[in-house]
Amino acid sequence: MCGIVGYTGFQDAYDIVINGLRRLEYRGYDSAGIVLEDGNNKLEVEKTKGKVEDLVNISSQLKGKAKIGMGHTRWATHGVPSDRNSHPHLSNNGKLAIIHNGIIENYDTIKTMLTEKGFTFKSETDTEVLVNLIQYFMDLNTETDFPTAVRYALNEVYGAYAITVMHEDYPGVLVVGRLGSPLAIGIGDKEYFIASDASPFVEFTKEAIYLEEGHMATISLENGVDIRTITENSKIVPEIQKLKLSLEQIEKSGYEHFMLKEIFEQPKSVHDTMRGRLLVEEGVIKMAGIWDHIEKFKNANRIIIIACGTSWHAGLIGEYLIEEYARIPVEVEYASEFRYRNPIITDKDVVIAISQSGETADTMAALKLAKERGAFIYGICNVVDSSIARITDAGSYTHAGPEIGVASTKAFTAQLTILSLIALKLGKHNGNLGNADFMSLIAELDAIPKKIEDVLSSTHELVQDIAKDFINATNFLYLGRGYNYPAALEGALKLKEISYIHAEGYPAAEMKHGPIALIDENMPIVIIAPKKGHYDKIVSNVQEIKARKGKVIAVVNSGDTQVSQMSDYVIEIPETSECFSPIVASVPLQLLAYYIAVYRGANVDQPRNLAKSVTVE
Ligand code: AGP
Ligand code: GLU
Repeated sequence: MCGIVGYTGFQDAYDIVINGLRRLEYRGYDSAGIVLEDGNNKLEVEKTKGKVEDLVNISSQLKGKAKIGMGHTRWATHGVPSDRNSHPHLSNNGKLAIIHNGIIENYDTIKTMLTEKGFTFKSETDTEVLVNLIQYFMDLNTETDFPTAVRYALNEVYGAYAITVMHEDYPGVLVVGRLGSPLAIGIGDKEYFIASDASPFVEFTKEAIYLEEGHMATISLENGVDIRTITENSKIVPEIQKLKLSLEQIEKSGYEHFMLKEIFEQPKSVHDTMRGRLLVEEGVIKMAGIWDHIEKFKNANRIIIIACGTSWHAGLIGEYLIEEYARIPVEVEYASEFRYRNPIITDKDVVIAISQSGETADTMAALKLAKERGAFIYGICNVVDSSIARITDAGSYTHAGPEIGVASTKAFTAQLTILSLIALKLGKHNGNLGNADFMSLIAELDAIPKKIEDVLSSTHELVQDIAKDFINATNFLYLGRGYNYPAALEGALKLKEISYIHAEGYPAAEMKHGPIALIDENMPIVIIAPKKGHYDKIVSNVQEIKARKGKVIAVVNSGDTQVSQMSDYVIEIPETSECFSPIVASVPLQLLAYYIAVYRGANVDQPRNLAKSVTVE
């Protein structure tokens, strides 16, 4: 997982690469580097442990020097973050430079072979092995040109990669390849851009080619984009896509962090997710992805939801929704477990893969396995044309807009919105959900964006005050029941991801089976207690906590008295159907995590050790 940017054209490559890296920094950010070809067939490299701004501090002398170059923000897999391990890496003869996203799994064997041939290595990375393997093929036969040597080398490696390679004797040429990690090529007028996603070049061109799995491309000003399969060298006619992304969508619009901007975008992102699908007045839910394959869902033995992290939490709520309204059995699996446990899958199973980025390696591998075994694969992704979106049989985009903050917020509520639509649509269709209930539920769902808006305005300041009291907390418990149990898991994940405070989510009733031992006057407990949803039981849980002097932060419905009276802090949210309450309840929990992290001085958009899309397993 990292960010890749490349450029060849007539503009200053330094500026384009550096600005592109700033946009991609969310993808990986423990080191950054740049290489330019200065017009005299010489590669100039600067790289450093740290952020893109650290790179800028040591590389400004490169500004204005070149019209071709590439840069990288790293998320280390092989070797600690350090100057030496940062990308780009040069080959032993100094002629080739590479940047790489992913893992070369057999790098060790190749490294041994190359070492025996006299190659030496400056870094601990798998990437440096690949660039030397390319040099090796060029040395072996001087007739082998640069793109061919890249192809030979890629045929020797396995793992996951998106790479961009430059050669100092091939001015104006970039060679790229992809297997398992994303890579987009922006097509301008006499200029080309390479990037892990389109955000670095969206202001320059709206035309892009998303390189397919197992393809490579040679990009030159003279000959344009030549795409080939890596294994067969067969020529591919590319499909040029029109980008819909605007620059404004990927900038902070005055918010201090992307995460805060994205939290505040939720009334719109939830609304956008329903737009054109939820037609309240006509009393219908239109979802072509579901409708075109309705028989698959209707006849499914079961639905298996696979996902990771926040998307997995959305999946758990999806299970409650689909089982309650459509009465189809649902299982929710961590993609990373599913892919390795030899699961029983049949062609009567429907697998729903949920992934914001659409690039998560574990989710991708799990759904490939399910597909091989005959299941029908449905995708719920936010990133259009992402790898997962492209290999599924059908799917629904969440339309939440680009999510840049590493901690997922608006993508999560958009996933819940899609899952709600799917559950209600299936339930209505298969007769488990009567018309009156359906009509009242869709009206309620339609009202959710307004309720999120109300929560944002009524709780924003209050949550900041509450957050101040917990800056020094070392542990947190999050509790909820029913639909709000996964919401508690998600609340805890948000807090630990960005504030580094240890937090655990539990079903509230499970507390007495263990976690209750942790409760004393120093333990903050966030409890989600809306009116609809086992309220009386939750009242008892709060009593149990108070009897042990725990500090309760309760998320309750407006006008609540019972839980509120017992709680130390009260956050009120508007009432809604139980099944949609996690969408509304998640919002103050996101704000709480955000402000605790901000007050602790943490980098909320780029929390340590995390990356936005985890394209390694
Ligand atoms: C969310 O806050 C996390 N950063 C993480 O758990 C994330 O949800 C997970 O990696 C799955 O990502 P995906 O939705 O892009 O597949
Ligand atoms: N495996 C490479 C490394 O550790 C690339 C990691 C990345 O995707 O940033 O340097």
